[in-house]
Amino acid sequence: MDELTRQRTRAKWDAAAKNFDVMSSRGPEKRWAPYKREFFSAMRGRILFLAVGTGLDIQFFPPNCQIVGIDISPKMLEQARARADAYPGKLELREMDVHALEFPAASFDQVFTSCTFCSVPDPVGGLESLRRVLVPGGELHMFEHTGSRYFPFNLMLNIMTPLARRFGPDMNRPTVANVERAGFRIRDVRHVYLDVVKAIVAEAPASTAG
Ligand SMILES: C[S@@+](CC[C@H](N)C(=O)[O-])C[C@H]1O[C@@H](n2cnc3c(N)ncnc32)[C@H](O)[C@@H]1O
Repeated sequence: MDELTRQRTRAKWDAAAKNFDVMSSRGPEKRWAPYKREFFSAMRGRILFLAVGTGLDIQFFPPNCQIVGIDISPKMLEQARARADAYPGKLELREMDVHALEFPAASFDQVFTSCTFCSVPDPVGGLESLRRVLVPGGELHMFEHTGSRYFPFNLMLNIMTPLARRFGPDMNRPTVANVERAGFRIRDVRHVYLDVVKAIVAEAPASTAG
């Protein structure tokens, strides 16, 4: 990702940080809470948590995990700090762009992320970066909203995307296909709401080459 796109992405999410909890925590977070608790219960080993945001998901993490949480937005991380400090385990926060991960290859056993690949500017490139930092056979766990195959949802999501993208996420990304394009093997796709909100589990190839 080029520097201008990186700066624009950071600025967009810095601007969203202030009202993010009000927009997210009352509605969507309550609604998805049972699914998220189950989703994060699979956390094991050395974990990269991508796109911490304001840290709303931290409440769903099982205790005593070893997690590095990253986000491109310093303002989001600022708000996440108190939640990270209260986590009963090891949770280090770092400002970082998924397209330019500063970790050596094969640093993590698992990557977890939620509502992120609607937002990163180059989803396949970002997913390839994640593949690099996972051990061979390492797991990618994603809780994402995506485009839909079904009318009228596909039409609505396509219409909403140009406006939504200016302030936040795209609404119509083909995220499962992007995961495969980035070289992962899909293990499981669970539809949480229609075919729009999904829990995806994928596996990095046994060899990290290529
Ligand atoms: C829709 S918010 C979701 C935040 C959090 N995962 C949640 O569900 O509450 C998207 C997040 O992705 C982060 N983000 C966007 N592009 C990124 C990138 N290239 N690298 C790292 N984080 C990024 C934003 O800063 C923002 O915090």
